[in-house]
Amino acid sequence: MHVSLVAIHELGIQKAALSLASLVASQQIGTFTPEVHPPVSFQTCTTSGGCATQNGSVVLDANYRWLHTASGDTCNPSGFNRTICPDAETCGESCALDGADYNGTYGITTTGNAVNLVFGNGGSRVYLLDDTGNYVNFKVMNQEFTFDVDVSNLPCAYNGALYFSEMPPDGGLSPTNKAGAAYGTGYCDSQCPKGINFINGTTNVDGSLGSCCNEMDLWEANSVATQLTPHPCNVTGEFVCTGNACSNLCDPSGCDFNPFRMGNQSFYGPGKIVDTTKPFTVVTQFVTDDNTPTGTLSSINRIYVQDGVVIQNSKTTLPGLPAANALTQDFCTDKETVLHDAASFNTFGGMAQMGTSLARGAVLVMSLWDDLSGGMTWLDGSTGDSSTPGAVRGPCTSADVVLTPTAAVTFSNIKVGDLNSTFESTVPPATPPPQSPSQVQWGQCGGVFYSGPTTCASPYKCVYSNPYYSQCL
Ligand SMILES: *[C@@H]1O[C@H](CO)[C@@H](O)[C@H](O)[C@H]1NC(C)=O
Ligand SMILES: *[C@@H]1O[C@H](CO)[C@@H](O)[C@H](O)[C@H]1NC(C)=O
Ligand SMILES: *[C@@H]1O[C@H](CO)[C@@H](O)[C@H](O)[C@H]1NC(C)=O
Ligand SMILES: *[C@@H]1O[C@H](CO)[C@@H](O)[C@H](O)[C@H]1NC(C)=O
Ligand SMILES: *[C@@H]1O[C@H](CO)[C@@H](O)[C@H](O)[C@H]1NC(C)=O
Ligand SMILES: *[C@@H]1O[C@H](CO)[C@@H](O)[C@H](O)[C@H]1NC(C)=O
Repeated sequence: MHVSLVAIHELGIQKAALSLASLVASQQIGTFTPEVHPPVSFQTCTTSGGCATQNGSVVLDANYRWLHTASGDTCNPSGFNRTICPDAETCGESCALDGADYNGTYGITTTGNAVNLVFGNGGSRVYLLDDTGNYVNFKVMNQEFTFDVDVSNLPCAYNGALYFSEMPPDGGLSPTNKAGAAYGTGYCDSQCPKGINFINGTTNVDGSLGSCCNEMDLWEANSVATQLTPHPCNVTGEFVCTGNACSNLCDPSGCDFNPFRMGNQSFYGPGKIVDTTKPFTVVTQFVTDDNTPTGTLSSINRIYVQDGVVIQNSKTTLPGLPAANALTQDFCTDKETVLHDAASFNTFGGMAQMGTSLARGAVLVMSLWDDLSGGMTWLDGSTGDSSTPGAVRGPCTSADVVLTPTAAVTFSNIKVGDLNSTFESTVPPATPPPQSPSQVQWGQCGGVFYSGPTTCASPYKCVYSNPYYSQCL
């Protein structure tokens, strides 16, 4: 995950009374806009019992919110205002995170089981909440996670992402964080981002603190490229790092599987085998070595379903790499040997370490972001040297990188459950063509003007006699 943080400040908001309840150094809650979480349902499934619907909602990340003083001055107009925030303590006392106008300001809407994110002024990042107000803590080992996605309105350099981060389920609620999951606090990922305003209840006034945790990217994609990437860390939960130490805790590059990059340029895209002009289902399976949730993560499998047809992930065709279509430790070890791009994945414990984190549980993140400065070339760029295996990741050139406020992604029909319990093929298997009857011993089986059976019942063979007669002998 390559993080772009965009602070959007709500302007022209009615100034209402704001209460700063206490004077301890803590992150406050603002009340200019009521916080109303857009509802979304999801399902938990078992092989024996089918799927049960759960009532959830989404919450906007804290960093995207208006952070302001009691009188409505923005605390971080571009970086923290050091008059309001001379130090972390004063800043925490003075600044409040406000509620979000989800649709109006951020382009976030939900209907039934669907979450729609429109890019607008700068995209957004949301987390899935359960009906108790905590983030859902998904445990996907020996399970599968499935969702439908519509990427038809996501051009080059845009990324509609769905992933797991090992965030605290309560958002890090504490005496110094009064906001918690209800206001989208506690974000961390494998880039150990330093732009987070509040980390573990501390205000990150000078941007020296980073927020690290294990990250499993199920889906980073637009309409022309997609990538599946585990990013292990050697930390547990959300870990606050400082300065240069932040670069030695996690694997920021991951062991990625992008069908286009792995050699199949006809698999994913508009009109391709997985046709991105219309919605499809994405299944990710977390298989363990002993088929239990406590086993070692052995394989991350990807399956698509579109128009009722189950489509297995494409296979690697790059020279030197085995024809794999799933992420395994062997695949990542081979990838480092051949493409030299998975050293840090292996250093930070590889698949096994990723599994250790997933077993503890992770929070579901959905986001929409862009990278217009240089393009999102690590995902979709065609500018790499095409004679170097793995250098070309998608079809996008710099000419394709265009500001698109209408860029949007819809994630829907989220399901988690037993392997093979969350999807099915609705297209009946093709029926074999009717078998023509076969000829009996001594019967005719060929010849000019002959129109009967041309195969012989076993064990007889059709034997040529003359142009007008062949016989089963
Ligand atoms: C979800 O909400 C609906 C409507 O309020 C309710 O009938 C249903 O029981 C809830 N489901 C669960 C699993 O809580
Ligand atoms: C910083 O905050 C002070 C006090 O609210 C204000 O007077 C000043 O204009 C702010 N500076 C910026 C750059 O917003
Ligand atoms: C988070 O803050 C608490 C105190 O509020 C502290 O005990 C804990 O060690 C901190 N966690 C990290 C990872 O820094
Ligand atoms: C994580 O691994 C790095 C590199 O091996 C090491 O320097 C660092 O101390 C480790 N950190 C933790 C918290 O284990
Ligand atoms: C791409 O993947 C599809 C589906 O697996 C396969 O039929 C096709 O042959 C692959 N093409 C190449 C060039 O590997
Ligand atoms: C899921 O289905 C696949 C393909 O049919 C099969 O190979 C696999 O064993 C199944 N896994 C489970 C746990 O049923």
